[in-house]
Amino acid sequence: MMKKLALFLLPLLFSGYLSAQELNSEAKKVFIDNLLSKMTIQEKAGQLRLISVGGDLTLDKVLDNIEVGEVGGIFNTIVEPDLSQMQERALKSPNKIPLFFGFDVIHGHRTIFPINLGIASSWDRSVMAKVAEISAEEATADGLNITWAPMVDITRDPRWGRVSEGFGEDPYLTSEAGRIFVERMQKQSLADKKSLATAVKHFALYGAVEGGREYNSTDMSERKMFQEYLVPYKAAIDAGSRAVMVSLVSVNGIPATANHWLLTEVLRNQWHFDGVVVSDHGAIRELINHGVASDAKDAVRVAIKAGIDMSMNDEYFLQFLPELVKEGAITEDQLNQACRRVLELKYDMGLFSDPNRYLDPKLDIETMFSNNRLHREEARDVARRSIVLLKNENKILPLARNKKIAVIGPLANSKRDILGSWSGAGRTNLAVTPLEGIKNTVKNPKSVSYAFGANLSDDANLYRFLNLYGENSKFDDRPADKIIAEAVNIAKKSDVVIAFVGEAEGMAHESSSRTDLSLQASQKRLLKALKETGKPLVIVLMNGRPLTLTEEYAQADAMLETWFLGTEGGNAIADVLFGQYNPSGKLPMSFPNNVGQIPVYYSHLNTGRPRGTENMGKYTTSYFDSPNEPLFPFGFGLSYTDFAMDFSLSSPEMDKEGEIVVTVNVENIGDKEGMQTVQLYLQDVTASVSRPVKELMGFENITLKPHEKGKVKFTIKYDMLKFWNDKMQYVAEPGKFNVFIGSDSTTQNKQTFTLLDK
Ligand code: BGC
Repeated sequence: MMKKLALFLLPLLFSGYLSAQELNSEAKKVFIDNLLSKMTIQEKAGQLRLISVGGDLTLDKVLDNIEVGEVGGIFNTIVEPDLSQMQERALKSPNKIPLFFGFDVIHGHRTIFPINLGIASSWDRSVMAKVAEISAEEATADGLNITWAPMVDITRDPRWGRVSEGFGEDPYLTSEAGRIFVERMQKQSLADKKSLATAVKHFALYGAVEGGREYNSTDMSERKMFQEYLVPYKAAIDAGSRAVMVSLVSVNGIPATANHWLLTEVLRNQWHFDGVVVSDHGAIRELINHGVASDAKDAVRVAIKAGIDMSMNDEYFLQFLPELVKEGAITEDQLNQACRRVLELKYDMGLFSDPNRYLDPKLDIETMFSNNRLHREEARDVARRSIVLLKNENKILPLARNKKIAVIGPLANSKRDILGSWSGAGRTNLAVTPLEGIKNTVKNPKSVSYAFGANLSDDANLYRFLNLYGENSKFDDRPADKIIAEAVNIAKKSDVVIAFVGEAEGMAHESSSRTDLSLQASQKRLLKALKETGKPLVIVLMNGRPLTLTEEYAQADAMLETWFLGTEGGNAIADVLFGQYNPSGKLPMSFPNNVGQIPVYYSHLNTGRPRGTENMGKYTTSYFDSPNEPLFPFGFGLSYTDFAMDFSLSSPEMDKEGEIVVTVNVENIGDKEGMQTVQLYLQDVTASVSRPVKELMGFENITLKPHEKGKVKFTIKYDMLKFWNDKMQYVAEPGKFNVFIGSDSTTQNKQTFTLLDK
């Protein structure tokens, strides 16, 4: 019967009469069973191979590999004619199985949006959706159909360089971003030509590496994992992410790539994930260094048994899987299962009915990018919304457009840096630098003068090591004093100084961990000299992680966190500096006062001796040389206007079936229109385990004209009160809950309700 169905469906399928959507899952099973029955073990192992052109793997070699059926997918090739050439060869392979094509589409593709930490600073779901949709549209126009995103590793350690790629420290905010990216990139169906399959990464806990040191180990209680760190991956999987990329690090002593508990018991059995599990770059061979595999063959055995389906950039799957099956070390069923998942993904992408469905030569990305103003406008809007105003003494901002302005700093005119890391397909030449943006905005561009001011670092070797290849961030060999003098000179002749300092994009990237989070000495000297001119000083930060900025905070009259804002970054910065946009961003991560405070995050436990406990003198949880609090808390961000808020609960108690509506009255009490992010935090006061002092549970934005009033509502439901209790059950326990409403995580604006025992 099954065979008959297959015989009936196949011709229709290849002739294109049936779309993938029209074929039901039974038909899919029949189709794949039939295909698997024709494939050799070698070809099945080939489907599990994800490779890119580079090193020994020349394009010719890759094409030959494809033609004999030894490649499942390609990554890091992004141009349609190249991809078409590869697909053509795949269709000459013994079973004509099409390839899929992947790339890291992290914060935009050709149009680059702010880095993800910046996108998170918008605290705006529609902004996240827009980025995901445009990214998918551009990437699929290039011929791609899968991406290694979203990256939802939460982290409380800004020493880790990949902080820039994630959405910050909080499980809820990160989950919202992850969910939206998956939904908007994958769309309703992967058969949609504008949909991009997602591989949520890096499963799991990459952001919790000890000491923030790249690729280091993680060790964490299961409670903390399930309560906090695993939540965003689960949210992305529940949203339907079709793939998962596994982290390179070890989780409680067992490398994630070899971790059966993580990849099979949790991911497959508990969470019912049935998509493709991809290892990270080179992770299979690294199992030998981790000390859980004796050699390459053993590493393949360990990885596949743990639950890896596809290997990224490893020749070993192909080399050893057939042998391992022959020897009985793994069963052919295990191999079939991994291969089936890859084929299912391709089937759902519609590749079997039309292998070239994403490869449309008419969809010319070059013209699309340069002509499509929409994407640039959206990029500018997203960038403006990602900027966080950290200080604005005496309301020095916004600036008048007719002032004499000194634009200074190593990041003021760097086209490469403003794009941030993971922007490989972005167009550097089209990026707008802050200097350009400011000149575009002021009344008379001649009133703007510019000086480089300082090297990003005094250490020329650091430039080489971190690939600081920003056009204007090349190392300047002249004596530092001379470079500074130039800047001081123009500062003195200006009404206001805007200094662009921070990190080069290469400093906030994979493999860019730091132990010192202060600005480099070269930049500190520059700021000191600028401060000494007595001119008003606006510090504009460009960086990919929270930095330690106590000194700069004291120096600045105004301070903006702009992250790396992408293609339209310079225009967006000018929009905020000159008041065309009233800043609304909020920090998605706490900024420490000093490195010794790390980890510093808002949702900590109260401890038995919280600071301020009566009669405890100095014997409370604290440092004697530092505050406990960060310099800037999670959720913090100023505006050019001010808001007042109060709120009420619909009831002082609720039961299992019930809910409580929180009504927040917001008033713009300033004289400019502005947007406020109203943040809802909950605290379970007494439970079987200690619960955090506060946890973010909701956020909504409201835009109000001067003196206008508005309302924001949240609904507290039973499920929002659940947590992993003392017996590791996910339940809500009756008792008292605090509800906090505010504009950042330090709010003490509180009301209380009781969850009844019924
Ligand atoms: C990174 C991944 C990335 C992969 C492919 C690895 O080095 O850890 O995040 O998706 O490379 O570019």
